[in-house]
Amino acid sequence: MELKTLPLSQVKRGTRILMRVDCNVPIKSRQVDVESDWRLEQTLEDINAYLQKGAIVILMGHLGRPRGLTKLSLSLRPVARWYEIKLGKKVLFIKDVVSKKSVQKVAGLEPGSVVMLENLRFYPNETFNCIWFSKRLARFADIYVNDAFGVSHRRHASVKNVTRFLPSYAGSILVNETKELSKKRVSPFVFVLGGIKLKTKMPTLLMLGREADEILLGGGVAVAVVSALMNKVFQINGKNISRRELSLARQAIKKFKTKLVSPIDFICSRNGKLQTVLTLNLEKEDEILDIGPSSIKLYSASLKRAKSVVFNGAMGSLDSGAMSGTEAIAKALSISVSQQAIVGGGDTVGFLQKKKLLKHFKFVSTGGGAMLAFLAGKKLPGLKVLKKK
Ligand code: 3PG
Repeated sequence: MELKTLPLSQVKRGTRILMRVDCNVPIKSRQVDVESDWRLEQTLEDINAYLQKGAIVILMGHLGRPRGLTKLSLSLRPVARWYEIKLGKKVLFIKDVVSKKSVQKVAGLEPGSVVMLENLRFYPNETFNCIWFSKRLARFADIYVNDAFGVSHRRHASVKNVTRFLPSYAGSILVNETKELSKKRVSPFVFVLGGIKLKTKMPTLLMLGREADEILLGGGVAVAVVSALMNKVFQINGKNISRRELSLARQAIKKFKTKLVSPIDFICSRNGKLQTVLTLNLEKEDEILDIGPSSIKLYSASLKRAKSVVFNGAMGSLDSGAMSGTEAIAKALSISVSQQAIVGGGDTVGFLQKKKLLKHFKFVSTGGGAMLAFLAGKKLPGLKVLKKK
């Protein structure tokens, strides 16, 4: 898919550019967690290019899912401060996104200024793709740029309807993501699929599973498949696998048969003690936390043979501190240089940044759900509106 991009020659001194960024990053003690700010770092390239031309850059984004309510813990002030440090200049923070006064404030700024709007999801209008709200956002600028691939699967005002009111373009993150994710994967292709819920991964599994030579499972996805295979309901994160998840797991087993590889052992908490348990010996009461050492060996051997790899979702429950599976799989991937390894998913990427393992991947996607939707062959609303005619 070819996207409309903004030629830098069109950016003049004082051109106001409204830029949608994906600033949904972990915040710790009211500050961006600098060990997991990889996603934000990616946005700097275009911002700096526009600022060098003397543009006024108005950044907008979201944090979390406040469902139309103002929540101090989800304010974008920490993100504005992060940009101040990285760009080395003051960032004007706009709390009231819809008032005329705010628009006037921005209109009076000097070329080269930077603005950050408060969390758009504090307004229910954002997620309803509200026309009135989109128009309000558009009033801030002359041009709109979407550089938030991570939200391009959302039919939201700042992603979709805003493009009705301004000349609109794709930023370099969007262009890069569509190029890399569209590349044909070379065989043997191994799809590593983890994460908590199979439901959110199913469309991608159905699509990429056809192409893959092997599908290595981890996290809740693996627990659902193992539950279906053994006809017993196991738990992850203290919750039993739901009936819906079981039925999806059965569907996946039927469709992919031996391509689907589930862990042969797990790290579990059994009677309050951490233990490695063979899958065949799992008990209903075991709290499954991560894939076990024999599974890591088995998966690593497959990954060594692979020529291309897509990795999405953690192998264990990162929230409970179960990190060894995800870390070991990322390390196994990095051994072979010939492979095309792609990784995505907000939590997984944040974790890999912390462990300094991102550099081993050929391509790191800024998307979580958006990457899955793209790989599942879905038409992303945010990309559709920016398609070159
Ligand atoms: C993400 O973190 O994947 C994106 O920012 C999208 O967030 P959302 O799933 O809350 O829309």
